[in-house]
Amino acid sequence: MGSIATPEFEVLNSELTSKIDKILSENEYDASKLVGILLDIQDIVPKKYIPMDVAAYVASELNIPLTGVYDVITFYSSLSDKPRAENIINLCKSIVCRTNNYMDLQKSLEKILGIKVGESTADGKFALQYSACFGACDVAPAIKINQDVYGNLTEEKLEEIIKRYR
Ligand code: FES
Repeated sequence: MGSIATPEFEVLNSELTSKIDKILSENEYDASKLVGILLDIQDIVPKKYIPMDVAAYVASELNIPLTGVYDVITFYSSLSDKPRAENIINLCKSIVCRTNNYMDLQKSLEKILGIKVGESTADGKFALQYSACFGACDVAPAIKINQDVYGNLTEEKLEEIIKRYR
């Protein structure tokens, strides 16, 4: 009798495992760096989330309880245990971007993507979320799409940028 496959348990293949091992090694298998480790791992997982088998692997490699990993995922809004989208758009709403009209950017992004902050597009291409400062204050207001940072943005520039990820 066959068992029902749970897609979440099929994510951790050998290629992803070796990439995760590299991230763990760069962080010296230090459990106090768990947030950064999970953010880096989430970035390399398709649909940008922490699947259950990945969470279990990280817990076992760092020798910490699985619940400790989920406590962190639950606490940080930038982390997710559910599949999100191919591209995560982080809209900075920290102080410098706030004083440089980040709301205009938000309106433009919501118009271009047809979604609100906190939502994903129906085709699974984009998720839009708020973020804390990621160090691009000199070009505020700024966004980060996956690991790429863009600043000094207008609606026209945004449309151009979004097109590259479609
Ligand atoms: S305040 Fe927005 S990138 Fe620093």
